[in-house]
Amino acid sequence: MRLGWKLTDRPPPICDYEGSDYQETFWDAGGRAYEDRCEEIALRRLLPTAGELLLEIGAGAGRNTPRYKNYRRVVLLDYSRTQLQRAQERLGSGNGRYIYVAADVYALPFVVGLFDAATMIRTLHHMADAPRALQQVRQVLRPGAVFILEYANKRNLKAIIRYWLRRQAWSPFSLAPVEFARLNFDFHPRAIRRWLQDNRFAAQRTLTVSHLRVSILKRALPTGVLVGIDSLAQLTGDWWQLSPSVFVRAEALGPSPIASPGEFFRCPACQQARLVEHPGSLTCSACSREWPVEAGIYDFRVR
Ligand SMILES: C[S@@+](CC[C@H](N)C(=O)[O-])C[C@H]1O[C@@H](n2cnc3c(N)ncnc32)[C@H](O)[C@@H]1O
Repeated sequence: MRLGWKLTDRPPPICDYEGSDYQETFWDAGGRAYEDRCEEIALRRLLPTAGELLLEIGAGAGRNTPRYKNYRRVVLLDYSRTQLQRAQERLGSGNGRYIYVAADVYALPFVVGLFDAATMIRTLHHMADAPRALQQVRQVLRPGAVFILEYANKRNLKAIIRYWLRRQAWSPFSLAPVEFARLNFDFHPRAIRRWLQDNRFAAQRTLTVSHLRVSILKRALPTGVLVGIDSLAQLTGDWWQLSPSVFVRAEALGPSPIASPGEFFRCPACQQARLVEHPGSLTCSACSREWPVEAGIYDFRVR
């Protein structure tokens, strides 16, 4: 497996959510109860009934975190410190169950083979180098771990119709990601399957989600009715994918290393696990880099 990138490599750009009121404007006041409830159903269907340590990648303000209640501990990882602060305000420490980590998905600060589960919901669509992000995720999972990935589907029904009517220039059928706004990408389901396979994930189940994400329908029909229809339509996901959002449950294939007991973080700059704890920081004894820990948030951002 290819190792993670070093600081000398040029890292892909990050879609910056620092200071954003995403949770409040997009979810709480954004009229997206339908999407939120559809995603809740998909997660319930895909999540294992019990587990030890789950990594939530791009956790944002923790909208989905309470849905991981079957896991003993959850690491909320996000590049934006202010998003993690919002999550902290909403969720607290969960009696020590929640661990808050500011870090870049392209340079994860964990030892190899640590987690028995990971989720990445509404986050891959910000990845300019999605295969590289998936490769990082695979590294920190142990063999047999479950990975639930949500991605924005470029080959959705609306995009196909718009393309056929010549109201959209890009083809929903080509495998390349489409960047419809800066650092916002839609992906082709076949490209995602290929990248998962290349990174030694076996896709087990696919659910198509939010089929009825159309404002006129959302205005005309009660949310409960739309959610009920979507809940049934989700079950066709293994056969075809025409919805704007797709959830895949994949298993990390072995053989691959498992973290030793007591190991957790590793330095994202030099990739050594020899981190020494001081009050308010961790220091890497290999490269001397210092990583702050402030107000309950580990800060491993390298740039
Ligand atoms: C659209 S929000 C989704 C938040 C949450 N998963 C949800 O569904 O409500 C995307 C999140 O991904 C985070 N993000 C974007 N690029 C990242 C990166 N390279 N590393 C870590 N987090 C990243 C952003 O800070 C943001 O909080």
